[in-house]
Amino acid sequence: MNANTPATQTHPNDPWSIEDWAFPRTESASEQLAFLLNYAVLAPSGHNTQPWRFKIAGADLGLFADRTRSLPAVDPGDRELIMSCGAALFHLRVAIRHFGYAPVVRPFPDPADPDLLAFVRLGERLEATGAPTMEDDRLFTAIKQRHTNRRPFADRPVPDEELGLLEAAALQEGARLHLFTQPERKGILADLIAEGDRIQGADEDFRRELAAWLHPNRSRRRDGIPGYAQGVGDLRSYIGPFVVRTFDWGGGRAAKDRQLAEGSPVLLVLSTEDDDAPAHLAAGQALARVLLTATTYGLSASFLNQPLEVAALRPEVARLIGTSHPQLILRLGYGPEVPTTPRRPARAVLSSSRYL
Ligand SMILES: Cc1cc2nc3c(=O)[nH]c(=O)nc-3n(C[C@H](O)[C@H](O)[C@H](O)COP(=O)(O)O)c2cc1C
Repeated sequence: MNANTPATQTHPNDPWSIEDWAFPRTESASEQLAFLLNYAVLAPSGHNTQPWRFKIAGADLGLFADRTRSLPAVDPGDRELIMSCGAALFHLRVAIRHFGYAPVVRPFPDPADPDLLAFVRLGERLEATGAPTMEDDRLFTAIKQRHTNRRPFADRPVPDEELGLLEAAALQEGARLHLFTQPERKGILADLIAEGDRIQGADEDFRRELAAWLHPNRSRRRDGIPGYAQGVGDLRSYIGPFVVRTFDWGGGRAAKDRQLAEGSPVLLVLSTEDDDAPAHLAAGQALARVLLTATTYGLSASFLNQPLEVAALRPEVARLIGTSHPQLILRLGYGPEVPTTPRRPARAVLSSSRYL
């Protein structure tokens, strides 16, 4: 950590402080599920909105989209919102396996309720099948080590074998990864990213929305993006939201992101066959499997989704990868250590009820 990356504040019930040994082994399934939500909420989410709610009824857990936390300017169809919830669902699945169960997930169980994204149960004990496996353990350990890393990455290639395993990780969750490692191909994608920056930077609604989720380093808020997550020191983190809201910074951002994109050893586009809510939920789970797997290889990642968030540019990315529905763009490489970003405690996003 350097001067621009202050230690994050510790809060009571901070999910980052959750410890394995505290798992309530002898308690009911509902107590165990409530505990495991601490791992679900460590998932990444757009602008760190944490747009999820959970309900537990007996042994059943419902995962709900919290659309009060939607981002209408950057994500008008809640595509990224559902992906964020999918990432939380994947973390929950990994945690359930770590503590010895085979999770049972029923996506979109109620066609009349589009906010109900999945039912989850602990499922059978895993002993019978010989799991948890070493991969389960590695993914679980990676939950607390994964952070979005917006710093420049080292000029060091990522081994092909690891890239192949990341592609397999995405496929396992029903999505595809398209890799960009050649400078020319990276340059074409970097052009689209820069164009996305220019369009977003000139858009007042986008700027206002983003500014509302940017917080000073010393803020006590437990959602949103603190300045330090973008490499900004304490003083600049106070004026950052004002600057973002007020000025068209698209040109400057475009130059910076182009450099970051072209200077990263790999750019990735994650795509799905369909473009509906189930596909977005699957994309979120694929994202989390890819990010956690990458973390186990010592890799860092950050997002450069701009051309997918600007309606006019998304088809251009689709043309570049030769499939219709690109969902996310990531850069991947070896970065310096970065601190955690805040999370709301699990109990703030959980309610209990008799029925789901
Ligand atoms: C669907 C999705 C879209 C995201 N889009 C962006 C993005 O365009 N730019 C960015 O810098 N971070 C993006 N992020 C990263 C979030 O800002 C980040 O996950 C959040 O601030 C929490 O920080 P953490 O990932 O370090 O835990 C995205 C995350 C998700 C899940």
